[in-house]
Amino acid sequence: MVSVGVIGCGHWGPNHIRVFSQLANSRVVMCADLDEARLKAVKAMYPTLETTTDYHVLLARPDIDAVCIAAPTKYHYQFTKEALAAGKHVLCEKPLAMTAAECVDLGAFAEKCGKTLMVGHVFVFNSAIRWVKEYIDSGELGRIYYAHSERTNLGPFRYDVNAMWDLAPHDVSIFDYLLGGEAVGAAARGLKCLGNKLEDLSFATLDYPDGRLVNVHVSWADPRKVRQITIVGEKKMIVWDDLDALGPVKLYDKHVERTTKFYESYGEFQLLSREGSIMIPKISAQEPLKAQGQYFIDCLEQGRPPLLADARKAASVVRSLDAIQRSMDQMGALVRI
Ligand SMILES: NC(=O)c1ccc[n+]([C@@H]2O[C@H](COP(=O)([O-])OP(=O)(O)OC[C@H]3O[C@@H](n4cnc5c(N)ncnc54)[C@H](O)[C@@H]3O)[C@@H](O)[C@H]2O)c1
Repeated sequence: MVSVGVIGCGHWGPNHIRVFSQLANSRVVMCADLDEARLKAVKAMYPTLETTTDYHVLLARPDIDAVCIAAPTKYHYQFTKEALAAGKHVLCEKPLAMTAAECVDLGAFAEKCGKTLMVGHVFVFNSAIRWVKEYIDSGELGRIYYAHSERTNLGPFRYDVNAMWDLAPHDVSIFDYLLGGEAVGAAARGLKCLGNKLEDLSFATLDYPDGRLVNVHVSWADPRKVRQITIVGEKKMIVWDDLDALGPVKLYDKHVERTTKFYESYGEFQLLSREGSIMIPKISAQEPLKAQGQYFIDCLEQGRPPLLADARKAASVVRSLDAIQRSMDQMGALVRI
């Protein structure tokens, strides 16, 4: 049984408390938050849970094996380093840190301490995203031409990081996972429209190796909650919609053929669209946060590196986010990664 402490009990931390309380081989012993009201709310749900306003008290507890960090992003590096130094395994929310160098440093420090360090790239534990990955790897989609994602809503707003640093880690971690590598360039525009001195939205285009182009649009200033990805392949096309009640994945048996048969007079070849059925695969739903928590506990119990979401993956994502930010700062200039 792995004993877990959770730092940060705001909007998201209680979900980690629930997950680690529900898993068969973990339990939550203590949680920390500066805000007494948040601790009171959590205590009302989990009466046996110990609480503290000083996370150092939690880190000093010898009976706590692992720490989950759900505090604001600006603290992720510091809290993760302190938790590792205190001899704890760490699951830290995304992004792991604000620079790739910090992610690399944390990875090396975790190795030195002999502790498991994992980042909460929760969508790589989403069963529909896993299904899409398997489908891409089977070759059935053919060469991927391009993909685009939309992650929008009205709020929630943050005051430590902009909408891009808050939301795009999800999409970048998904595309790194699906495309099996890291972006090599970024060009992006952002807009500060709500008066909070932070970008409230961004439109980012990422270059992945082999000419694959990916666009990521995030916003917390949008009328609709949207969680969608479209992937256009040479043989088929996929739309993932996390909020679609019919099922999260639609597989379009559509593609474009080049022919010289019918229109010789118009040039060398013509493009013909080929349209077949649209299939909704049956994908068993498992809560991604629970799957992520289980993977973390399994890795630390079995001494396995958490390859799906380790410090190296965290650094790749942060490198892309940093390039997107630098491009936004330069009004869309191409930034090579
Ligand atoms: N994976 C996901 O889908 C997902 C969803 C939401 C949030 N998150 C991540 O979770 C983290 C927290 O997000 P949130 O929405 O819960 O934010 P939040 O602002 O609602 O909660 C953060 C909490 O941390 C507490 N805190 C701040 N400083 C602290 C300190 N020194 N010691 C102890 N507690 C402290 C605050 O009092 C607050 O209650 C962020 O990094 C965010 O990116 C991930």
